[in-house]
Amino acid sequence: MVETKSIEDKKLWEAIFHRKSIRKYKSTPLDDETLSRVRNFLEELIPLKEDIKTRFMLIGPDDIKSLIPLKKAPHYIAAFSEKKAGYRVNIGFMLEQMDLFLSSQNIGSCWVGMAQPKKDILRETTLEDVILLSLGEADETVHRQEIGEFKRKKLEEISDMNEDNGFLEPARLAPSATNNQPWYFTGNENQIEVYCTRPNFIKARVLKKWNPIDMGIALYHLWLHFKVKGKNVEIITDNIKKDEKKGYAHIATVIIN
Ligand SMILES: Cc1cc2nc3c(=O)[nH]c(=O)nc-3n(C[C@H](O)[C@H](O)[C@H](O)COP(=O)(O)O)c2cc1C
Repeated sequence: MVETKSIEDKKLWEAIFHRKSIRKYKSTPLDDETLSRVRNFLEELIPLKEDIKTRFMLIGPDDIKSLIPLKKAPHYIAAFSEKKAGYRVNIGFMLEQMDLFLSSQNIGSCWVGMAQPKKDILRETTLEDVILLSLGEADETVHRQEIGEFKRKKLEEISDMNEDNGFLEPARLAPSATNNQPWYFTGNENQIEVYCTRPNFIKARVLKKWNPIDMGIALYHLWLHFKVKGKNVEIITDNIKKDEKKGYAHIATVIIN
């Protein structure tokens, strides 16, 4: 059982280095067998914070309304959560597992912040609607071929660790809303302090909701990397250090051994 899980983890880890957002989909829905694999995987998502109630619904294009013109995908996963401290970080951590799973199965996906489930769907739960993930058969190349195709900040821009910081590469490649990459890492390979840049006043209006999701995504990439390398990883989110680093909010401490 444990071995099967580690093979699955390795596939998700490999997807980090090839995944990309897919925005062009074939209109035909995924077949029933694929959809049932997606549903099964939804049951297996690992929470960052076990005490937060979450729900994930697989819905169709007619169930969502877009805030901007959008060529719809054949399917969406709508993520809902209880509103507790760290709930958006938790959803980012959980739904990124699905993003990587879909990429590993050659299925296209994209985080969608600019759309929402319609009222009928919202009425099905009392939980807060957090974010959508679109999915379907890609109508463009589904993977990146080379790391150079990722538009990302350099390692030295997201960390002050000068050497031996290759373990940050998976977090560096994480997707984020408007590709703003708000993360910053200090420490070393045994203990990493994870920070989020505080956006300026204008950007904050847009990014306030999404930055915590971005941070959950990067935390999952970091966690998965150390897991695949055979390490024990603990992510502590209830020790938030206020004002420790100017311009940044402390999000978590990651302990690796
Ligand atoms: C929280 C979140 C919200 C996003 N919302 C949208 C969106 O509404 N529309 C869209 O086209 N892409 C959206 N994206 C995708 C990002 O633009 C994309 O991840 C980023 O540009 C990096 O590109 P990549 O995913 O291809 O590596 C979102 C990503 C995240 C993490």
